Amino acid sequence: MPDAVDLIRAKRDGGTLAEDDIRWLIAAYTAGEVADEQMSALLMAVFFTGMDSAELAVWTDAMISSGERLDLSGLAAPTADKHSTGGVGDKVSLILAPLVASFGVAVPQLSGRGLGHTGGTLDKLESVPGWRAALSNDEILAVLAEVGCVICAAGPDLVPADRRLYALRDVTGTVESIPLIASSIMSKKIAEGTAALVLDVKVGSGAFMPDRTSAWQLAQTMVRLGQAHGVRTSALLTRMDTPLGRAVGNAVEVAESVATLRGEGPADLVAVTLALAAEMLRLAGIDADPAAALADGRALDRYRAMIAAQGGDPDAELPVARHAELVTAPSAGWLRALDARAVGIAAWRLGAGRARKEDPVSAAAGVICLAKPGDQVEAGQPLLELRGDDQGRFGRARQALTDAIEIGNEPPPPAEPVIDRIAG
Ligand code: URA
Repeated sequence: MPDAVDLIRAKRDGGTLAEDDIRWLIAAYTAGEVADEQMSALLMAVFFTGMDSAELAVWTDAMISSGERLDLSGLAAPTADKHSTGGVGDKVSLILAPLVASFGVAVPQLSGRGLGHTGGTLDKLESVPGWRAALSNDEILAVLAEVGCVICAAGPDLVPADRRLYALRDVTGTVESIPLIASSIMSKKIAEGTAALVLDVKVGSGAFMPDRTSAWQLAQTMVRLGQAHGVRTSALLTRMDTPLGRAVGNAVEVAESVATLRGEGPADLVAVTLALAAEMLRLAGIDADPAAALADGRALDRYRAMIAAQGGDPDAELPVARHAELVTAPSAGWLRALDARAVGIAAWRLGAGRARKEDPVSAAAGVICLAKPGDQVEAGQPLLELRGDDQGRFGRARQALTDAIEIGNEPPPPAEPVIDRIAG
């Protein structure tokens, strides 16, 4: 049997781990037979020395093997999914899943909750009265067969190794490592059983990867891992310097998603959603223009059916915050920047996000961007509307926004929302 200390030393000194050693390590750690302090040291060694592509492929495979795989082979439709590395105002999944499903592609979106300044898809949808995130595997398959798309929580048996590893990385400063992020994301997506996958890798202040080079490397690494495991995978790099759309929070993002499904969405959100939809349809072998389904209400019908199939009432009123305050423009000019991270932190402090996994979130709290970069504004014009149920939270939310707004004499350079594409 391998010895964890030998593996730590080997990785620390820049060596590579053999396949059997990696498989043993992941299985033993998941079973509680390798201690957290040993795995922490190994993760830190990986953080500094990386993994080669053979190690990464085995590491990812060992993570997948730590639990069950969803079997979607009984579905008549082709399958395709999307994963975003997370951003502020990123409600794309809520629109994209029903949009792509309306073309006859089954979309199994096993999603997570928000932590820190980026929101979680499940938290957003839980603001719809009655909607249920926790579904059994049989229920997931039934909703997929009946509606064509499902957005729900990944069950505890899907990649249990990642559950333990991610929690450990979170408290040991080892999250921001390309091989560790890539294996964490791709193990879950491969275990979910989708045949095609589009990755939305966010770049900018509100993203995990602030610079384009590291975002590109992460995208490339994940595309290769997907391909190696037989999943048709491609990636888009998309901009996350400013919130996507105008709404940041939970219920407010659901409302903006429904407006977008009605054909009334903000331009940047529509552009990113349509680019991802086109990519998913292409990988699923379907030649169609997704814009038509937003315009004629087909995608909205799918959304309503998906919400109802998961116990939600698509006609119910969404929660509305008890308090609202405005942030106004300090001077006249062009709005050159509205920082995504700062707005995300403000929404989080208003109650839309959580600091610890167990914390509840407020459905109604959030921020509405009344102006976006590129708009011309007057002094005193409202730029942001802060919403929350707890008046005591507004002061700290405002503090987060101190340096978020930049107004200048020139308009900002045009910024296309989709920066690059890494084709599989
Ligand atoms: N999301 C994941 O699922 N894993 C990571 O490591 C980072 C983001």
